[in-house]
Amino acid sequence: MAEQILKLTEIHKSFNLGTQETQIIKGAGFSVNKGDFLILFGPSGCGKSTMLNILLGLEPPTKGEVIFLGKNIYDAFDEDGRAQMRKQQVGIIYQQSNWVKSLNVIENVYFPLTLRGLPEEEREKRAMEVLKMVGMEQGALQNPAELSSGQQQRVSLARALISDPALIVADEPTGNLDSKASEDIMALFKQSNDKGKTVIMVTHDLEYLKFASRSVNMADGVVVGEYSANDERLKKLSVSKRGNIGRAEKS
Ligand SMILES: Nc1ncnc2c1ncn2[C@@H]1O[C@H](COP(=O)(O)OP(=O)(O)OP(=O)(O)O)[C@@H](O)[C@H]1O
Ligand SMILES: [Mg+2]
Repeated sequence: MAEQILKLTEIHKSFNLGTQETQIIKGAGFSVNKGDFLILFGPSGCGKSTMLNILLGLEPPTKGEVIFLGKNIYDAFDEDGRAQMRKQQVGIIYQQSNWVKSLNVIENVYFPLTLRGLPEEEREKRAMEVLKMVGMEQGALQNPAELSSGQQQRVSLARALISDPALIVADEPTGNLDSKASEDIMALFKQSNDKGKTVIMVTHDLEYLKFASRSVNMADGVVVGEYSANDERLKKLSVSKRGNIGRAEKS
């Protein structure tokens, strides 16, 4: 049986907006096995990013449990412990790349290893390896801001991979990219997954469900559907609702 590395159970989350408490996540949960490529999808505002923040240890749930690598992260660790856990076990990619502006591409990529105090030679070697994996080795000495959005996301993926994390988490990594660059980035995520990396990704684009080994559909703070890769229902979903489904549904 596949090894379970993450389990979110009966997650609730409320936010205080002014004097009013609004329930955003209403008992949602899913689990992730080692080697999964899990795609989380659903309409804008349904709580996808909130779920990612909760599983990353950035936002404590109001109720519910997050078990990551066998530990209840909100019981076993304090905030510093959770930050440590992220640094060591998770690679994170957001819609928009964020760079240390004073550092060039390779320095940004090996920055997580700099924080760990690895010798420079080793950092450079590892950084070139991951830059090669994403086809960005020629850009190593450039400033990240000089690169196209697609190239920047490749470098973001390289930076996420460099620590060899147990889990890669990406929140709409193709959100700012044209369709060609998006396909390229998705192919790179798939390639990493094929090599054994576990991936959780949020996307609006149902076209990309084809990359997932498992897909979780959220709506209004709950999970409304879970599909495995060959689920016929999923194919219908991506054909009938092609494109930017989440946003389209909201407007
Ligand atoms: N820190 C916060 N304080 C108050 N409300 C919040 C906070 N974070 C999220 N929300 C609200 O929670 C709801 C869900 O937000 P979330 O960002 O999780 O949605 P999403 O599914 O990721 O949407 P999108 O697809 O547009 O990124 C939204 O209504 C949002 O305004
Ligand atoms: Mg979001």
